[in-house]
Amino acid sequence: MKIVGVGHYAPAHVVTNHDLEAWLDTTDEWITTRTGMKRRHWTSDNEATSDLASAAAEAALVHAGLQAADVDCFIVATVTPDYYFPATACLVATRLGVREKPAFDIAIACSGFIYGLTVASGLIRSGVYRRVMLIGAESLSKILDKGDRSTAILFGDGAGAVILERSEENSFLASDLGADGSRPELLYAHGSGSREPIDHAALDAKLHLIHMQGRETFKLAVNKMVESTGSVLSKANLTKADIAFLIPHQANKRIIDATARYLGLPDDKVVINISEYGNTSAASIPMALSETVRTGRVKPGDLIVFVAFGGGLSWGAVAWRWTA
Ligand SMILES: CC(C)(COP(=O)(O)OP(=O)(O)OC[C@H]1O[C@@H](n2cnc3c(N)ncnc32)[C@H](O)[C@@H]1OP(=O)(O)O)[C@@H](O)C(=O)NCCC(=O)NCCS
Repeated sequence: MKIVGVGHYAPAHVVTNHDLEAWLDTTDEWITTRTGMKRRHWTSDNEATSDLASAAAEAALVHAGLQAADVDCFIVATVTPDYYFPATACLVATRLGVREKPAFDIAIACSGFIYGLTVASGLIRSGVYRRVMLIGAESLSKILDKGDRSTAILFGDGAGAVILERSEENSFLASDLGADGSRPELLYAHGSGSREPIDHAALDAKLHLIHMQGRETFKLAVNKMVESTGSVLSKANLTKADIAFLIPHQANKRIIDATARYLGLPDDKVVINISEYGNTSAASIPMALSETVRTGRVKPGDLIVFVAFGGGLSWGAVAWRWTA
């Protein structure tokens, strides 16, 4: 199997660090040095995750030279769906003009694309489907406490899509996934599910918005991303020296830099676009992949390692051989 098309989309509305200075006790200098972020894109009131996902999917279809009807299954990785249900993937497939094809969501936060790539690859390799559209899409600005400087500066909105197709070439080399639900409070939006159903008190306390313990999450992210990259390479019988590109989840440039340093990877092998988009959770890796492929940096035969860490806690890596 291989990837035959990539696409990405970010909403038009850009929020710069200087814009944030207008209502938060923060500075462009603090945000830039602590996170590497300069800008992020936020949806407007009338935009939702399925809008971003559909735009990215359309771009991937054009890139692949395919019609939506050529796709057998639609998967959206997101923790900011349009609704609790139906799944955002159902809305996206219909928006693309496809009816009665399977469509479902994967909700595993920032690891969504890694889990999705593993599931989609499994569906193709086992012969269930020939072509799968996998989209990572988020509207995190809709669940941000815009008055909390420790989270409001970090997150952005966007979508990235890949089309996977059965083929003689084998791009999927190995996957390493993990999860630990013992400390959900490190990163969660807890008020509004079945444990703490939303009510006026929960709304007033902003329990439905993102809450994060940043410093602790930071340390775990670096450890797990380094560990998972090592595991996936060993499963694929490869070494760090074989990596052409590391495409990590874009949570914080310092997390990415520390991960690359532990792995001994030079800057030109590590894809970073965080300055433009911030942390877009499940969308960050497919957006970065799409940008890297579309600018012609990726060559046939290149080994790409995708790696992520996020809410759950959850983490994972996929080793992928790029084929033309
Ligand atoms: C959130 C994060 C950027 C904070 O950076 P940090 O260097 O850890 O900063 P700290 O949380 O230790 O805070 C340091 C100080 O900066 C302050 N601060 C926090 N946000 C600020 C902001 N936007 N502007 C100015 N100061 C800020 C804090 O209040 C604290 O002040 P104090 O020392 O007076 O208490 C960083 O911890 C991070 O990126 N964490 C992980 C994010 C992540 O991986 N998410 C999950 C994966 S999706």
